[in-house]
Amino acid sequence: MEAEKKAKPTIIVIFGATGDLTWRKLVPAMYNLYLDQWVDPHFAIIGVGRSEMSNEGFRSHLLDGINKFSRTGKAKPEVWEVFAQTIFYQKADYDQDSTYTSLKKQITALEDEWGGAVNRVFYMSLPPQHVQQIATKVGEAGLAPDDKLSRIVFEKPFGHDLESAKKLNQFLLTLFHECQIYRIDHYLGKETVQNIMAFRFANAMFEPLWNRNYIDHVQITVSEQLGVEDRGSYYDHAGALRDMIQNHLLQLLCLIAMEPPVSFDADEVRNRKVDVLHALRKISRDEVHHYAVRGQYGAGWIEGKKVPGYREEKGVLPDSNTDTFAAFKFFIDNWRWSNIPFYLRTGKRMSESISVITIQFKPVPHQSFPSQATENWQPNRLILNIQPQMGIRLRFQAKRPGLKMQLNPVDMLFNYKENYPSGSPEAYETLLLDVMLGDATLFMRADQVEAAWEVLMPILHKWEANPSISFPNYASGMQGPEESEALIARDGHNWIALPLEK
Ligand code: BG6
Repeated sequence: MEAEKKAKPTIIVIFGATGDLTWRKLVPAMYNLYLDQWVDPHFAIIGVGRSEMSNEGFRSHLLDGINKFSRTGKAKPEVWEVFAQTIFYQKADYDQDSTYTSLKKQITALEDEWGGAVNRVFYMSLPPQHVQQIATKVGEAGLAPDDKLSRIVFEKPFGHDLESAKKLNQFLLTLFHECQIYRIDHYLGKETVQNIMAFRFANAMFEPLWNRNYIDHVQITVSEQLGVEDRGSYYDHAGALRDMIQNHLLQLLCLIAMEPPVSFDADEVRNRKVDVLHALRKISRDEVHHYAVRGQYGAGWIEGKKVPGYREEKGVLPDSNTDTFAAFKFFIDNWRWSNIPFYLRTGKRMSESISVITIQFKPVPHQSFPSQATENWQPNRLILNIQPQMGIRLRFQAKRPGLKMQLNPVDMLFNYKENYPSGSPEAYETLLLDVMLGDATLFMRADQVEAAWEVLMPILHKWEANPSISFPNYASGMQGPEESEALIARDGHNWIALPLEK
């Protein structure tokens, strides 16, 4: 561990502490940071929720979450015993001033005991409708007085469209400085996603090829076997475009397409990503059908089990027009990427759970080999495997052993598991540590969020004004609707075949 990366004394206040995110992700991540000694011994978690619960009850609920979801397996009793003492629970009404006064008392008491002001992190782990009210109360109660030490963390969705995101940003900026606001996109904390920057900017070999002269097109696929589970009432107001494309997939696209940053300063990196979003070709409402495809899953089979259609899910309207699949073709109008298509697709209840980026290189300019040698010839392809397998695969041509010249595609493979058997931190470990360290590089700045909404607004408007007449248009367990194949086939390409070859 690099000593300088260790977090300073910190108090994390989680609003919505009895929810799923805290149980499955946040506290297991904090436990692992504690286990690996990334946090200071002066550390506390104050969970705030509306349910009645004692400190003990809250701790044992969280222990259950750690035992179920922590990447390091069940909690070590001797570590848990100490860690548990850092956890407190407060039942609260979010609209009552007394909630915030008593939080202030508790925070000040801990600070007095520890001998001075510490990092204060306010984590909004609850539905968007509560966020504005709580942020106001936190601001008004003077809970975040020091812009160097106090931070406020927001989960997505950040706004419902461009207008609401702008309003929310403007509102938050009346209470906090931008440097205090951490908007989470958990994909940016994933090890393999961070590795995209390492791969591109720490190797001299690939960057000279990383442009329109050598790359034919790029594909980004994030497909999930899961349906909407118990999130139907949220998802039915969101859909794939808002839930996945606006944030995770556009961020992946930015990492692939951005110019090399001059430094790893948070704003420098984020500026380079915003440049990409600004360069995305605007799609007019009339052209949406050329560039975008939507889908909704019907009943079908996943891993041999029959699953219901989206419209039969809990919390979903029986005639819902919500997209559970979206595919796009984007162009980035700048020197590096002019006229190179970036194809993006994401969907629920698809055949595979996989996130993968494919960089398809152009064919060689001249084929010197006789035609019988090149029967199996394929252009170079680089596959960045985000999950579940984590790795990088480079496909190139080799001579097949034998007395004749026969070319055959072969792979060079980097596999995280084989190279780093000790495992990788979860996205939330990285992101929580960064919040404690005050490093905003992996978080969304206000203008990034707004630029991403801006690109998608014509599509959202078009889709909302024209309900689909073909939904559901793909069966669960398939790879999305046929129109998605057509979107890419029109340009003479195919989506990468799933499952990926081993
Ligand atoms: C969340 C979306 O942001 O990301 C979910 O709201 C989706 O709908 C999830 O399932 C996917 O994340 P991961 O890390 O499992 O790929």
